[in-house]
Order: sequence, then structure tokens, then C-alpha cells
Amino acid sequence: MKAIVLNQKTYKLEIKDVERPTLSYSDVLIKLKAASINHHELWTLKEKELRSDSNIILGSDGSGIIMNIGTDVNGLKKGDEVIINPSLNWGTNNKVHGENYEILGFPQHGTFAEYITINHQYVCRKPEHLSFQESAALPLAGLTAYRALFTRGEFENNNRILITGIGGGVALFALSFAVALGAEVYVTSGNDHKILKAIKLGAKGGVNYKNSDWSTKLLQMAKGFDVIIDSAAGKGFTELTEMTNPGGRIILFGRTAGNIQNLSPSIIFWKQISICGTTMGNNEEFKKMMDLISSKKIRPVIDSIYSTQKINLAFNKMDKGEQFGKIVINMDKFNYDI
Ligand SMILES: NC(=O)c1ccc[n+]([C@@H]2O[C@H](COP(=O)([O-])OP(=O)(O)OC[C@H]3O[C@@H](n4cnc5c(N)ncnc54)[C@H](OP(=O)(O)O)[C@@H]3O)[C@@H](O)[C@H]2O)c1
Repeated sequence: MKAIVLNQKTYKLEIKDVERPTLSYSDVLIKLKAASINHHELWTLKEKELRSDSNIILGSDGSGIIMNIGTDVNGLKKGDEVIINPSLNWGTNNKVHGENYEILGFPQHGTFAEYITINHQYVCRKPEHLSFQESAALPLAGLTAYRALFTRGEFENNNRILITGIGGGVALFALSFAVALGAEVYVTSGNDHKILKAIKLGAKGGVNYKNSDWSTKLLQMAKGFDVIIDSAAGKGFTELTEMTNPGGRIILFGRTAGNIQNLSPSIIFWKQISICGTTMGNNEEFKKMMDLISSKKIRPVIDSIYSTQKINLAFNKMDKGEQFGKIVINMDKFNYDI
């Protein structure tokens, strides 16, 4: 089969012929129709992190059609249209993943390929109201947003919520979920057009974090936040603690803007703020996220769809932060020129 592999000498993605994966008794074989890209893979490309001693097929998100099932698989059959949960081996503790935890795409080969085999416990039927491309946008970002907002953020409908960097894939899922449940949501972005787009999707307002007075303006608009969902950290994180209501929660899942600086301890203990890290989610949260998407007919925001040959351009766009929502790759056609 053909696959997009990471050449760990050049740190470029290349289309290659590789062996089709074999099916074990508890696996399903999926012909992939679409994948989507995440900042997770971009970090690997940018930071030249050694992922394995051989070429590795990256990709955490995918949707497709089941072509074959192992002898022990129940509840799924050939021809089912499915999506994959990339959060593997979470373990038994709901509070944190265990030491064998993996995100699909390393060390297990990922979704940037014609076919994938994966244990059936990580496969579920795609929502009927979504296309393959929309479904491929869901797994990693949707799951991260679900756990951030509901499990770690302890979301309640009357909460006022701030989501930073709204152009991001996870951020837009958090917005869709919170708006679908009637919350008052504000956003930040480095791009005014993205703020307007977020308002069209149901946000009450937003500010550009590139303006020096962004936090003052935001407080004038919204007065304070019960839950803040942040993927940036960096210099602006201190201001987030100032904008958090007493007893409020800041949920952090990323490091796009680098290390946190000059955090004031007194603000944190006097307002009794909780600063919570979060990563991906467990199988139960994945199912709940899928139920929410189906019951509220939520559609992921798709920025753009690329062919396999243009995948490096897709990552360039993400690197420049130009996207609003998820970038999807059609996995139907492969050529060698990339
Ligand atoms: N822990 C986990 O489980 C987990 C899961 C998924 C992602 N992540 C991490 O979360 C981050 C976002 O991931 P993603 O896949 O959603 O990435 P993405 O789609 O590439 O989004 C990144 C977003 O970060 C925002 N941003 C950049 N600089 C910022 C700043 N100074 N302040 C506020 N926002 C800023 C941008 O928003 P604007 O364009 O609106 O300016 C950009 O759209 C990455 O660091 C990723 O590694 C972690």
C-alpha cells in the first residue's frame, strides 16, 4: 500500500510503498477515506524529534470503511463507515493516563496511509450527519476539547467561558460544544477576521491577543471567567489568572506560545483558582464526545481539504497559523510526487 512516511534524516514527509498491515484477532482493517492534521505532528516535523528507528507513518485522525475484521471482533462489520479514537492504552485511572499511554501515529503507525489496522475498541461508527472529511476532523481535537471543557473544566451551563487562540482545531471544538449547551463564550485570536468568524459561530465577543490592552478590553466586555480553556501558555498566561473569577478554573492543554512567565502566587491562592493540565481523553470521554456531536448535530469547522501530495503545504499553513479550524487530507488518491 502507499503511505506518507516521515523520513527521519530529512524530516520531510514522503509517499512510499510500504507493507500493508496484517490483521490480528482483535483488529479491524480500515481503508482510510480522510485524515486530518494536528499540531501534534507539526511539533515532530519542527522539533525533529526522533520518533522511531525506521520510517514512521504519522497521523492520529482518520475515518474510513472497514474492509476486514479479526475473529474476536464484535459489534463491527465489513462495510461499516467508522472513525478512530487515537488515544491508546489510557489505563484504569480516569484522572490521568497510564505509563503505556500512546497517541496513534507513534509508535503504532498512524492514519496517513491507504490502510490501517487497529484494535476494534478504538473504532466506532462515524456520525450519520457528517461526511468522511468532517468525521476525520473529530477525534484528537474533539476529544481534547471534550475532556478540557467537561471533565477538567467541570462545565456548567451558566458558566462564562474564555477560549484562547480560537483559530485552533481544539479551540473551535470547545466553542462548538459550549455554544451547543448554551454557555456564554468569549474568544481571543491573533487575527480579527477569526474573531468575527467565531462570533458567527455563537461566541459573544473576542479580542486580538496581539494588542497590548487585550486583557483590559476583554474584562470590559465580559467582567471575568469561570472557565478558561488555553492552549498557548506563554506570556499571556499571567493575564488569564487576572481574568479568572474567584473559584474559577484555567484548563491548559498546549504550549503554542512557550513557557509561562511571572505568575503571581497571590492571585492564584487568594482567588482559589485551579490551574489544570489536560491531555486527550479516555474511551468513555470519546464515546460521550461522539454522543454530544450526534445529538446536537455539531459539525466541525473545516478550514481546508488537501490531497496527499499537498500534505507539506497543509503543515506549512498550520505552522503560519493561517487556519481557522481543522485541515483535512483526502486519503483516497496517492501519487509519489509530494
Ligand atoms: N494536551 C493535548 O492532549 C493536546 C491535544 C491537542 C493539541 N494540543 C496542543 O494544543 C495546541 C493547539 O493545538 P491545535 O491542534 O488546536 O493547533 P492549531 O490548530 O495549529 O492551533 C494553534 C492555535 O494557537 C493559537 N495561538 C498561537 N499563538 C497564540 C497566543 N500567543 N495566544 C493564544 N493563542 C495563540 C492560534 O490561534 P489564532 O489563530 O486564533 O491566533 C492557532 O490557531 C498545540 O500546542 C498542541 O500541541 C495538546
